[in-house]
Amino acid sequence: MTTVERPRAQPDTADRTARRFERMRPFGAGPTPRFDTRGLPPGPRWPVWVQSVALLRFRHRFVPRMWRRYGDVFTVRILPGGRPLVLFTRPEHAKEIFAGDPDAFHAGKGNAILGPIMGEHSLLLQDGQEHKRARTLLMPAFNGRALRGYRRLVEEVTREQVGRWRPGEEFRSLDRMNALTLEVILRVVFGVTDERRLARLRPCVNRTVNVSPAVLLGWGYPALQRFGPWKRTVDNAYRLDELMYAEIRERRSATDLERRTDVLSRLILAGDEGDRLTDDELRDQLVTLLLAGHETTASALAWVLHELGRDRTHLARAREAARNGDDEHLEAVLKEAMRLHPVIPMVVRTLMRPATIGGWDLPAGATVGPSILVAHARPDNHPEPERFDPSRFVGQNPPVNTWIPFGGGVRRCIGAGFSLMEGVVVLREILTTYDVTAARKDRPKVRNITSVPGRGSRIRVTRSE
Ligand code: HEM
Repeated sequence: MTTVERPRAQPDTADRTARRFERMRPFGAGPTPRFDTRGLPPGPRWPVWVQSVALLRFRHRFVPRMWRRYGDVFTVRILPGGRPLVLFTRPEHAKEIFAGDPDAFHAGKGNAILGPIMGEHSLLLQDGQEHKRARTLLMPAFNGRALRGYRRLVEEVTREQVGRWRPGEEFRSLDRMNALTLEVILRVVFGVTDERRLARLRPCVNRTVNVSPAVLLGWGYPALQRFGPWKRTVDNAYRLDELMYAEIRERRSATDLERRTDVLSRLILAGDEGDRLTDDELRDQLVTLLLAGHETTASALAWVLHELGRDRTHLARAREAARNGDDEHLEAVLKEAMRLHPVIPMVVRTLMRPATIGGWDLPAGATVGPSILVAHARPDNHPEPERFDPSRFVGQNPPVNTWIPFGGGVRRCIGAGFSLMEGVVVLREILTTYDVTAARKDRPKVRNITSVPGRGSRIRVTRSE
């Protein structure tokens, strides 16, 4: 593959970015429909904005409290317009939602706020036939064979990064895990590419991930885009697009495309002649994978280090597993951390026509979803739910739809297998090299849509004997 000089500003990419911003304004979809809220499951009567803030910022306390107060199914009213969000907490209800007809249970609408960044072709934003087509084109890049191909690369990046840690130092493991998983996903998505371009992509992707919901909501008011954080976000988005389109353009002309195993090369070749992904579609899917694919896994890993760092017995068992190549145990540790500290608190679907779930008749326009937080914390799903106990996942799986960190049905996380593989590789490398102690107790904090350790899961690492 030929190396490419620094991409010059391409007027066409700037134009594409501007048009995307125009199309993807969060409030551009017209007025919020009115609902007949009679007969909905019970819920708090607080002002809508209070409920919205509680759900967005304090969900770790708010949602379990609503469950204790109102029972297994409850309604929260949220902005804009006080629309109902009906949350379900029982596995049989999760099953009904996951198995719902994709034409009636839309997921893309719930993610509309991500539109300006991810674009309308993003797997996260699409529904119906478009979603089905994109999913079919993307899936082969994440099947078992593809995952085995990425493993060596994950090992290399991990060894390189973990090798730089200094014995005796204390640090926020969340930050280190974020840097590591960003590097992994960049390389998996783009493959071995010009290092100078990767160096330019890294900060752009990082700044994109750090965009706050307030900035995204500001897209509804284009005038804001000339100021402060909005301007910085817009400038960064133009820059990111420039780099992405340059990478796509160049890769299309690579002569070794069939032999390449990175996601971009696979996606360029995916599908039949005449039904291939366009540059805009490729751009949107790649940005989606870069963003969805790193902070989530980083948070899960930071929670593992927190839990192991607080319990010598679990740590000793995990280190033994790491030394003996017992990947099943390491995966169990990761799954248990995801159960106890769900990275994503719920998955939602918007009803395109009336539906009955758990015996409740719900109107079109309502948003419904299983609460992952409560599903993972119910004692009838997971005995002694507050206890960290990886043995729940050793040689067995919890009953179906009681462990749902990756959602389910046709929308189940496309990177689930990837993140488990990556997590095991990273844990093995850390635990064979270091002893880990948690520096202090941590609690979940909301960061955009993910839940992360609020204090960054500070740990101290020492050389293992
Ligand atoms: C611990 C790590 C991760 C967690 C907890 C997680 C969680 C989730 C959840 C809850 C969903 C929504 C599922 C639903 O609506 O039913 C989702 C969707 C998605 N995830 Fe992940 N994810 C993780 C890692 C990844 C990785 C590594 C990638 C990419 C390499 C990725 C890419 C995606 C994409 C593209 C979707 C949209 C799928 C669709 O709508 O068809 N995720 N993820």
